[in-house]
Amino acid sequence: MSLENDVRRAADLICDADSVTIVSHIDADGISTEAILAQALTRESMPVESVFVRQLEPMAMRHVPKDGSLKLFADLGAGQQNLLEEHGLSADEVLILDHHVGQPCGTAYPQVNSLDHGITRMSAAGIAYLVAKAIDPTGIDLAKLAVVGNVGDMMARENCGLVGPAREIVQDGVEYGNIVVQDHDLNCYGTSTRPVHVCLGYCDDPYIDGISNNANAALRFLERLGVELKNPRGGWLVWEELPFDDRRTIISALAQQLIAHGRDTDRLLAETYIFPDESERTPLRNASEYATLLNACGRWAKPKVGSSICRGERGEAYRDAEHMLAHHRTVIRDLLQYILDAGVTERSHLQYIHTGDRFPDTIVGIGAGMALSKLNWKKPMMVLAAMVDEPEVMKVSMRTNEWALGHGVDLCEALVEASAAVGGAGGGHRIAAGAFIPHDTEEEFVDGVNRILKRQFASADPNDS
Ligand code: C5P
Ligand code: C5P
Ligand code: C5P
Repeated sequence: MSLENDVRRAADLICDADSVTIVSHIDADGISTEAILAQALTRESMPVESVFVRQLEPMAMRHVPKDGSLKLFADLGAGQQNLLEEHGLSADEVLILDHHVGQPCGTAYPQVNSLDHGITRMSAAGIAYLVAKAIDPTGIDLAKLAVVGNVGDMMARENCGLVGPAREIVQDGVEYGNIVVQDHDLNCYGTSTRPVHVCLGYCDDPYIDGISNNANAALRFLERLGVELKNPRGGWLVWEELPFDDRRTIISALAQQLIAHGRDTDRLLAETYIFPDESERTPLRNASEYATLLNACGRWAKPKVGSSICRGERGEAYRDAEHMLAHHRTVIRDLLQYILDAGVTERSHLQYIHTGDRFPDTIVGIGAGMALSKLNWKKPMMVLAAMVDEPEVMKVSMRTNEWALGHGVDLCEALVEASAAVGGAGGGHRIAAGAFIPHDTEEEFVDGVNRILKRQFASADPNDS
């Protein structure tokens, strides 16, 4: 079946239901997915309840109500169909909207999965939006949330941004008027919220010699360019507020700085998505900062606050989220620093670190991704973390990059296989995957993953062993 047919069938199943329970994931993609679906259904006067879970695992299934509602598993479910089956859920009470690698299962659960259609760069929020649009073609205001989910799950390509069906969704938002696309913009976090020199000082990917990690030096660099960095009242401007010509001047000076130090300029620019309907100088002004705000809410156990923000609530929910965002950013910076200071253990085909109970299991994957570019980027990075509320279980997060994918690596396959061998369970994507394993199987598990990665590298290049 084509993607359009799957989407149509999903929309029909939803419209035929008496009520719907959305079961979604706690990250930016999961929260925006839930907000798209809940708003689309509420507009149709469909009774809808939402449940957020950290991961669809046996313990989480108790949050899935045993009632007559259609259970809409969003941003999860594809890789846990056997669990749904074990839980006694039948095919006519389930719909899966997901973009994770699927699991073979006896019960043919209806689903829309972008991977089934060869689309690797569209997240669950994109699928949710297509389904919502099939229910009501006028609801294109929701495209903005789909862009947040896609950006949050890193679906954009370097340099050209969102592609394929995810790009068409961007166009809906542009048409509606709540998205402005900026191509060749500065690829730096904080372009809507931080004074320009602070923003540049924080930018370390790409690393810009003499500027990264040094906001004062960044300020002197900008002053030498002669651009106006303050507003008439004397307050610092953020990047987004600079005139176009000044932004170009800065970007070309930064490119020259990178070239002068023999560095690649590839990651300096990116396509960014600005939301003109949001207040200026807030993290809601662009897709990347919005996604991080939602991640902060979800990963710090308040996904519903994130969901309220997606529905337009500001006030208390927003103030709560801003606090979580500040905390989130501090903790992930500490996590990265901890990984770099403590150092990783290298195996032939991976590198890993055990962070014990220092950081919550919900954020270690972010640390793995950030550390990879600063360590040996050719070796997939693994972080193991204790689960404070489940001492018998250990969380595993892995991240790799496009280079490794091109050399045969598939982290999802590796973690599914290696975790099953020690009595755990894993899943995810080729480039980013996770697992839960029994706490006393670490060594055997790391050996197993290393062996599988060696096999994967060798299958793509028999000379590389
Ligand atoms: O479960 P889940 O989809 O939430 O995993 C999201 C994680 O996977 C994020 O850390 C995201 O950055 C990463 N990811 C990625 N590239 C992809 C898909 C996911 O880096 N193509
Ligand atoms: O889990 P995943 O690898 O996708 O984590 C990526 C998330 O972490 C993104 O939503 C991104 O906004 C956030 N992040 C961050 N600060 C960074 C890098 C990533 O908050 N410096
Ligand atoms: O938790 P983390 O951000 O590392 O998750 C990376 C990816 O692996 C996500 O897509 C997540 O849904 C998936 N995952 C999984 N099973 C687990 C842990 C993570 O499928 N036990």
